[in-house]
Amino acid sequence: MDKNTEFENEVAKNIAGLSADAEFKKQSLEWCVAAARHRYTYNFRFLGRPIIQVPQDIMAMQELIWQVKPDLIIETGIAHGGSLIMNASMLALLDMCDAIEAGQTLDPGVSQRKVLGIDIDIRAHNRAAIETHPMSSRIRMIQGSSIAPEIINLVEKTASDYQRVFVCLDSNHTHDHVLAELEAYAPLTSIGSYCVVFDTIVEDLPENMFIDRPWGKGNNPRTAVWEYLRRLNSANYIASDGAPLKLEIDKSIENKLLITVSPDGFLRRI
Ligand SMILES: C[S@@+](CC[C@H](N)C(=O)[O-])C[C@H]1O[C@@H](n2cnc3c(N)ncnc32)[C@H](O)[C@@H]1O
Repeated sequence: MDKNTEFENEVAKNIAGLSADAEFKKQSLEWCVAAARHRYTYNFRFLGRPIIQVPQDIMAMQELIWQVKPDLIIETGIAHGGSLIMNASMLALLDMCDAIEAGQTLDPGVSQRKVLGIDIDIRAHNRAAIETHPMSSRIRMIQGSSIAPEIINLVEKTASDYQRVFVCLDSNHTHDHVLAELEAYAPLTSIGSYCVVFDTIVEDLPENMFIDRPWGKGNNPRTAVWEYLRRLNSANYIASDGAPLKLEIDKSIENKLLITVSPDGFLRRI
C-alpha cells in the first residue's frame, strides 16, 4: 500500500472512531451550546470581512470546494460578506491552480468562476466593502428574498451558464423558508457537488436560545432538510440538468468536524 493511501486509511479510522465516541459527541455539542451563548461565530474574519461561521465549517468548505472545483457557488445570506469573500478566494485559488497546471499566465482579475450571493438586505457599508475588496471581480450580488420567484428565476438563469454548481443556504433559518430554498436551489447542484445547509444545529440547541427569532426546535433548517429528503425519496424530482435529483447527507464531514453548525446539512448530490 502506498504511503498516501496508508495515511488516508488512518484518517478514515480516526473519523470512524470519532463517530462512535458518544461522549465526545456530547461534549462537542455542549461546546457548541456554550459557544452560541457567547455569539462565538461572530468573532472571525476572512480576508478582512466578518464571516459568521465556526472555523471548523470554514475548513470543511475549503475541502469541499477543492474536491468539487465548482465554477459557480450560489450562496443565500451575505451579511457582512465574509463567506462570499471566502468562497471567492477559493475560486481564485482554483483559477491559479488551473493556470499553473496548464502552464498559462494568470490574469488575477479575470475569472469565469463566480460566487452569486443573495440577501434580502445588503447593507450599504457591507456592499461597499465587498465591492471594493480585491476578490470583488469574482462576486455578483442580488438583493431580494431568496425565495421570491423573480430572484429564483434570476439565479436559475445565471446557473444555466455554468457547468459545476455548488449551493450554500444560510439566510432565514425557519423551516418553511429553508424548505422553499431547497426546492428552488438544490436542483441546481451539480452531480458530485454539494448543497450545504447551515444552522441545522438549531434543532439541537436549547429552546430558550432563540426567543427573539422565529426559528427554534421543530422549526429550523434541519427539519427542512429532513422534509426535503423525504420529498425527494417519495417522488421523482428532476434536477436542472435533466437528470434525477438524488441527495444524501454526507455524514463523514460532520463526523470529522464534531464542531459544526451543519449536522445533517452537508448534502451531496449523487
Ligand atoms: C447568518 S447571516 C449570513 C452569514 C454569512 N453567510 C456568513 O457566513 O458570514 C443571514 C443573512 O440572511 C439574510 N436574510 C434573511 N432573510 C432572507 C431572505 N428571505 N432572503 C435572503 N436573505 C435573507 C439576512 O439579511 C442576513 O444577512
